[in-house]
Amino acid sequence: NESEGRTLAELAKRRGFFFPSNGVYGGTAGFYTYGPEGAALKRHLEDAWRDRFTVKEGNQEIEAPTVMPEAVFEASGHLDGFDDMLVECADCGESHRADHLIEDDTAIEDAEALEIAEVEELIREHELVCPSCGTALAGQPVEDFNLMFETTIGPGSGQTGYMRPETAQGIFVEFPQLAEYARNKLPFGVTQIGPAYRNEISPRKGVIRVREFTQAELEQFVDPERDEPDLSRVSDVEVTLYPIENQREEGSEYVETTVGEAVEEGTIASEWVAYYLGIAQEWYERVGIDMDRFRFRQHLPGERAHYASDCWDAEAELGGDWVEIAGFAYRGDYDLSKHAEHSGEEFTVFEQYDEPIHTERATVDPDMSYLGPEFGGKAGEIADALETLAERDRAAFEDESVSVEVDGESYEIPTERTGFSVEEVTESGEHVTPHVVEPSFGVGRTLYAVFAHAYREDEVDGEERSYLSLPPEMAPTTVGVFPLMDRDGMGERARTVASELREAGLEVSYDDSGNIGRRYRRQDEVGTPFCVTVDYESLEDDTVTLRDRDSTDQARVPIAELPVLLTDLREG
Ligand code: GAP
Repeated sequence: NESEGRTLAELAKRRGFFFPSNGVYGGTAGFYTYGPEGAALKRHLEDAWRDRFTVKEGNQEIEAPTVMPEAVFEASGHLDGFDDMLVECADCGESHRADHLIEDDTAIEDAEALEIAEVEELIREHELVCPSCGTALAGQPVEDFNLMFETTIGPGSGQTGYMRPETAQGIFVEFPQLAEYARNKLPFGVTQIGPAYRNEISPRKGVIRVREFTQAELEQFVDPERDEPDLSRVSDVEVTLYPIENQREEGSEYVETTVGEAVEEGTIASEWVAYYLGIAQEWYERVGIDMDRFRFRQHLPGERAHYASDCWDAEAELGGDWVEIAGFAYRGDYDLSKHAEHSGEEFTVFEQYDEPIHTERATVDPDMSYLGPEFGGKAGEIADALETLAERDRAAFEDESVSVEVDGESYEIPTERTGFSVEEVTESGEHVTPHVVEPSFGVGRTLYAVFAHAYREDEVDGEERSYLSLPPEMAPTTVGVFPLMDRDGMGERARTVASELREAGLEVSYDDSGNIGRRYRRQDEVGTPFCVTVDYESLEDDTVTLRDRDSTDQARVPIAELPVLLTDLREG
């Protein structure tokens, strides 16, 4: 499994998919550069995500800044709670995630949910050592480490800012504006694709855990009482689920089911979450994830982020480990309520009723003067308590006096002095704080999973070859164009074919160096699904050979048909 990781890392670097950044200055842990092939694959993944989660769902995409002021993260809870547990080796100075050390070296899962004192105790009990130098870690302090990168906005003492740890906050803080663009009608969804930053304690596994990465997130705003997703769209989609109960039962299997059944049986509690698991399942298949190495796993209670009441992860099997590549969280009204509270702004949608509702409203006299001097400084609080009581329990005002409790003391007020009255009112709608359902994808992790699942080795003409069986839509290059040899006019003809195909919107790689077999191998390794070769026959009859990457089968095709044929093949 480690050798699989090494093979892929070597291929990724050699062929320009991705490699550690800033190598000439010794490298910077947790930062990766996508080379030409990787950047193209990433762009295709993002385009396919945009097509599915923005365009086809009828959502709106925005682009918010990546640096945000401190107030945002005070409200969102990240300043207080976006921590990992750090233990620093007293000997070599290396920092490690304490919960990971426990999970790696003991049978304990979900160590993230433990308290610091419990973690310190487990380190002692299991005699854990520093993975870098072998020094015993018992007795060394475990601390909370906030993962946000801090910066200063503006010169001098400036204003404290943070690099956003999730793109989501850029959507939540602009909710009042975005709701207006959506004409104040729920449900509506807003998406964003862009960088997020986390100062991970121990970045590892290549692009899987890095300090700067791209997220593709959808914030679906819904009225939990009224809005339902179109489940019929996904009810027959087959999914592999790993719910909490099955994770807790030793030897328990996954649940192979359909989205419709999972909702009916209550395996997935939220219909909205279920809907997006179904949409995502189909999308992962489209972009080339191997469905035999894919599952949705429900978060254990201790794993959930501070804002989530339920969460399912999409996980891909990579090198023998299950790796989270996306999360589907039910965030409720947590974020919008917090931003409303901290900013003092309105984070609701006014929902018009179909018909105005005629109703009665019970009130007390808003002027507190009826509460004489005998109530002293408590008059205001007594008036508030009466107001609340009038709303909740009209019957309490039927007797001669009404009693309320303020600061543990009971006050009897003659009912006639309260100014209690019931009036007829017409209500045209109500203010609703939407709930949020959030599919959140890591683009780098998805890219790595697609890359790893596409990797194949076989034998062609007695020679070993490795290739990437990427879906044509994802492949960095759609077609390689070669002259059999660069002579007798074949080179010119092949260059003309290449530029005609580029004009038709295809991504083309022209190559005339080395023998034809080596040129095929080069394209196979970067996942190019089709190769076109101009030979002597082409000069006579305007046809070329078209070769299929996976089967290596070849057919003769008229040059004039190539643009339409290849465009169709790319789009599947
Ligand atoms: N807004 C929700 C949110 O940020 P998350 O589960 O913390 O949820 C979502 O992150 C996705 O972002 C993950 O499923 C993962 O794919 C990706 N991700 C998170 N941390 C990452 C890291 N350090 N390196 C690469 N990708 C990461």
